[in-house]
Amino acid sequence: MGRKARILGEEGDLSEVISVTIENGLALVEINNPPVNATGLAVRIGLLKAVEKAEQESAKAAIVYCDGRTFVAGGDISEFGKPPQEPHLPDVYQAIEDNSVPWIAATHGTTLGGGFELSMACDFRLAQAGTKFALPEVNLGLVPGAGGSQRLPRLIGIEAAVELATTGQMIDAQKLYDLGGLDQIFDGDPKEAGIAFAASLPSQLSPLSARGMAKVSDDYFDNKRAELTKRAKGQTSPLDNLKAIEWAATLPFKEGQPKERALHLELRDSTQSKALRHAFFSERKVSKPKAIDGGNPIELNKIVVVGGGLMGAGIAFACLNAGYIVTLIERDAETAAAGRERIEGLIAGGVKRGKISDEKAKKLGAMLSASDSYQAAKDADIAIEAVFEDLAVKQQVFQSLATHMRDDAILATNTSYIDPTQIFEGISNPERFIGLHFFSPAHIMKLLEIVRLPTTSKDVLATGFTLGKKLRKVGVLSGICDGFIGNRILSAYRRQADYLLMDGCTPKQIDDAMRGFGMPMGPYELQDLTGLQISWANRKRQAATRPTDERYVRVGDLLCEAERFGQRSQMGWYKYEEGNRQPIEDAFVTDLIEKEASDAGIERQTFTNAQIVDRLLAVMINEGALIVEEGIAERGLDVDLVKIHGYGFPRWRGGPMHYANEIGWDRVKAAMADVAAQSPNSWRLAARLK
Ligand code: NAI
Repeated sequence: MGRKARILGEEGDLSEVISVTIENGLALVEINNPPVNATGLAVRIGLLKAVEKAEQESAKAAIVYCDGRTFVAGGDISEFGKPPQEPHLPDVYQAIEDNSVPWIAATHGTTLGGGFELSMACDFRLAQAGTKFALPEVNLGLVPGAGGSQRLPRLIGIEAAVELATTGQMIDAQKLYDLGGLDQIFDGDPKEAGIAFAASLPSQLSPLSARGMAKVSDDYFDNKRAELTKRAKGQTSPLDNLKAIEWAATLPFKEGQPKERALHLELRDSTQSKALRHAFFSERKVSKPKAIDGGNPIELNKIVVVGGGLMGAGIAFACLNAGYIVTLIERDAETAAAGRERIEGLIAGGVKRGKISDEKAKKLGAMLSASDSYQAAKDADIAIEAVFEDLAVKQQVFQSLATHMRDDAILATNTSYIDPTQIFEGISNPERFIGLHFFSPAHIMKLLEIVRLPTTSKDVLATGFTLGKKLRKVGVLSGICDGFIGNRILSAYRRQADYLLMDGCTPKQIDDAMRGFGMPMGPYELQDLTGLQISWANRKRQAATRPTDERYVRVGDLLCEAERFGQRSQMGWYKYEEGNRQPIEDAFVTDLIEKEASDAGIERQTFTNAQIVDRLLAVMINEGALIVEEGIAERGLDVDLVKIHGYGFPRWRGGPMHYANEIGWDRVKAAMADVAAQSPNSWRLAARLK
């Protein structure tokens, strides 16, 4: 235990994490439970004892504060999945609220979940300037479990409480103060601030649980429910949080609070909460694959981006925003100027949306240069290539980079499909090669596939992860295969969707089914949005190596031949009215599908939405399992995060591999057997699904 920890009471070590000292009639209650002072069992026991001790000593006030980088930042998630152990958090907080000593919370850092709830059980709340507050339970599929949903509306009003509890968003101390949620903001040490505050205690208001709250309009909760149902796309926790706050608005605390607690405990075992917790923990594990064990990241200062098109501009902007000096290299002076303009456009967009200050925009502009000469690359630490998806062009780019850069500078390609080993052929020092596969728009999308070549050193891989983190991305390690992790699964998904089209579905039916599952869009409306050409080009490229007996659906190709490229040509899998993105079913497409099916001698049948979902998920899971079995991904969680952060897979379903665990591999196996029977010779089965 740390230097400051003192054992409280005789029972010993469980309460080491809390010390209570009586100084000048004040009970100083210090929590010291690294890393984030979570409200585990020992903290709960310690707090109860602190309540007793403060009362016994007739303290003028008790000040609770934390050692380390933050006030209590939440519950102890490792206790989830186990039976709750006494004393329960709501009872501990009730004891803090009910006793005769005024309690002061002196917060700092990130006061989240159970920490925010602890502060609300106290009579007074202080916060160090910059402290962040949130009830993040919603993001783990939960409602608060210790009175948060019942006390918060009594503290800051129903609407503000609903906003916080249904989104989990963080607000800073100033905002909470403005909402009436804090008594004071201080600079400096929490303990000292608490002592100073206690010297002239304001008269005590009634505890939060006994306070009423301002009314909202009669239809407020119904309207909000409708709004959240739409926004949450199948995730139930925002609605659960709304319901809990509605209890606060309509019931006395002593009835609402046990209902909140019961719902919290029930949700801990829910499928959605398990999936969201899986995503949360996976995000903590994903940046530590075995492949970088022992690797030391190399420091990067200056980054060269080659190609200032759609992707290059986004990548350059993301790098600038993360504090790197960026040089863009383009084909000629004209395209260099156009690339620079594109990046400046992204900076200006950030200013317009209030994300970037004018001052910062100026600074970013000054950190950016654009050139048509590879001389400009000479002192850079890494080059990220984002030129046309063409092997010869990419090879030429790396020849030029290798000539002008240090021979230990890292060389990275953003290719979507080309084997990076070929791209880097003939270049020296292969340990410095890496793939950094961004997703469009590159400054917004969270996913970064970090592609490992057989020669990539651990240090260079580790550098990829550090760079990803600085760019605020979720970096996922991938080996080399066609499409890496994400696009490979996407290809399988689209292929199976096309088979379903032939065998009886319409694009709309498939899109509706997948939206029903929780995807933001179905496969066909998404293709119309992003354009049909890229996958068309891709299918042409794959034609040479496609097994001749694999089933092939031509409809997408025929649409492209008819110049139906999606929304940009106002027709693709659907048609569109001028200036409207709403897909409209088009007889041209459904007739084409039926004709192709009839020419192939297929007797079309009907599929339920559940069958569509089962089959499309089965191929995603099968492909994910193959990817893990082949060692392209180290773990199922890598596959899950790729799909969640790059492809809109609903987070509350946990990703395809988690979903398979949840519904059971037997069900997936059965669905995959149907898939394979429907299209013989077209699917290689993962060992797990044989
Ligand atoms: P783009 O066509 O928008 O941009 C390519 C840029 O590269 C153009 O500005 C062009 O002038 C420049 N360029 C071409 N040859 C060059 C050379 N020899 N030297 C310097 N600059 C050169 O293409 P986009 O969409 O930005 O794609 C770039 C790369 O990123 C491709 O490899 C693509 O597969 C990959 N990618 C694309 C994604 C997308 O959604 N568009 C997603 C992820 C990766």
